[in-house]
Amino acid sequence: MTKKISIIGAGAVGATLAQRLLESGASDIVLLDIAKNMAVGKALDLLDASPIVGHERTILGTDDYKEIKSSDIVVITAGFARKPGMTREDLIAKNAWIVKGVSENIKRYSPDSIVIVVTNPLDTMTYLAYKTTGFKRERVFGMAGLLDASRFIYLIAAELKIPRSAVQTYMLGSHGDTMVPILSKTYVSGKPISGIMTKEKLGAIVKRTCERGAEIVGLLGSGSAYYSPSAAVFKMINAALEDTKEAFVASVCLEGEYGLKDVAIGVPCKIGRNGIEEIIELELSEEEEAAFRKSAKVIKSSIDIL
Ligand code: APR
Repeated sequence: MTKKISIIGAGAVGATLAQRLLESGASDIVLLDIAKNMAVGKALDLLDASPIVGHERTILGTDDYKEIKSSDIVVITAGFARKPGMTREDLIAKNAWIVKGVSENIKRYSPDSIVIVVTNPLDTMTYLAYKTTGFKRERVFGMAGLLDASRFIYLIAAELKIPRSAVQTYMLGSHGDTMVPILSKTYVSGKPISGIMTKEKLGAIVKRTCERGAEIVGLLGSGSAYYSPSAAVFKMINAALEDTKEAFVASVCLEGEYGLKDVAIGVPCKIGRNGIEEIIELELSEEEEAAFRKSAKVIKSSIDIL
């Protein structure tokens, strides 16, 4: 059966995700934006490309929430992106209103959907969407750790001049300055990274990874990264649609895992047809454990602002 996917926010991330989905086989896509006609225009543009790309599928652009009715998956990309010099946390006031309103509409029109949150600050917005929809936590999660790990992998591979596929790692914690690279479980062709790179070099790559989003914001001048975020959401959607149960780091509200409660934070999760099928509890080093707790504390204080 065809699955219906709705994308809320037809900006850079939303529209790029729509293109990835449409051109790779999804056929029941709704692209919604509050900006009147914007999503309609982008959907028409994508459809105009279909004879060239060579597909017969369709996408609907709209500003009417009724159109997202009975979606299987809803992705929230609505909201403001950072400007140069801003942190993701600086977006909280403006984006909380938007994500709350969007979540109320999702609850109303697609009560059985899986919700994937992209809007920043990611972990806080995931928590807000979870609380506002009232859906089971397995069905409301945020995309971030997969993207942060991808950035880390790219930079390690580029430094070592090796294939990106040879690098394995996890990036836990917040999608922000306190993200936690799990160096004790970072491998290059199966070998621990600690034996391959000096501490100093690795430290520099970790720093660049944490600041990668800001680096791109600074270079773009207006707007933030969208190719890699949309690629990460696309991967998560596929895992849910195909029920692959692949493990990715996603932001989910913890209920005792890792000794934490009532905070959405990035942890490895198996994703399948029910959303999060399992939360994986990794064994962390003492240092990683402390960094993870610190990251949770930062997210909690952001949640308190809500
Ligand atoms: N309902 C629907 N769409 C909305 C709403 C709303 N209530 N409020 C804003 N939007 C739309 C805007 O009109 C805009 O088209 O959300 C879109 C956001 O697009 P961009 O400004 O291009 O931002 P983008 O780069 O896509 O990032 C979106 O994801 O990665 C995060 O930090 C990023 O929070 C940001 C979000």
